[in-house]
Amino acid sequence: MSDDSVPQLGVDVGGTTIKGAVVNLGAGELASGIHTEPTPPTATPGDVAAAIGRIAAAAGWPGPVGVALPGVIDGSSLRHAPNLSRAWEADGALECLRVPEGANAVLINDADAAGLAELTYGDAGLDRDGLTIVLTFGTGIGSALLHNGDLIANSELGGLVGSNGRFEEIASGRAISSEELTPVEWARRAQPFFDELEAMLNPSRWVVGGGLSENFDRFASRLKLSKPISAAHLGVHAGIVGAAVAVSRAGRGSPSSAVK
Ligand code: BGC
Repeated sequence: MSDDSVPQLGVDVGGTTIKGAVVNLGAGELASGIHTEPTPPTATPGDVAAAIGRIAAAAGWPGPVGVALPGVIDGSSLRHAPNLSRAWEADGALECLRVPEGANAVLINDADAAGLAELTYGDAGLDRDGLTIVLTFGTGIGSALLHNGDLIANSELGGLVGSNGRFEEIASGRAISSEELTPVEWARRAQPFFDELEAMLNPSRWVVGGGLSENFDRFASRLKLSKPISAAHLGVHAGIVGAAVAVSRAGRGSPSSAVK
């Protein structure tokens, strides 16, 4: 049974940190402090599941958990997850996320979670006629396609390859910090990515999330785009909030997959 007035626990699994909080779904706000665990160096399904279990225990959470993961959720395994262990690609790997004991986890791609949160509470919900592209810039580049108010899951646009390599390798939040890119240098790398997506998909709106949403004015303002762009309304919490929304939506049979 799903009910937007019932809080849910959302957990966002990142390349370096796993973060979770109870979310008030009526307001789209965190209803608890954020509980964090470092992403285990092995990043195997079992170790990540144990860390999520500790987060649920710290939050005193007995029920289902929404889990945002950095990869394509494909049946019972995770594909294209370069920031986690290859062990996720084994058939049945996602069954490990049945945490806490006895409660189902509802799984969603991390950028799709951010997109779902923006669709529900942010600017992306403004355009019900057209395509909004949500791009999250963190360890990788995640993407969510919101078309006429619906999420088209697992788009993986950060994997596009430009003349200098995969965009998620050269223009992610990690590239900014590890290569100490200035906003001008970042924009020079990111502009062809946006140009390519504009030519391919003709979006009517852009939303930028992940770590870059905190430095939106310095970085995204450098881009030359024909359509409006804004920072994710929920900032770096969009993944947590969207994972919690996914739990509520799973009860209504919408896009995210439940581990039974
Ligand atoms: C993964 C995506 C994910 C993105 C952001 C990419 O490496 O392939 O699934 O959304 O990182 O975490």
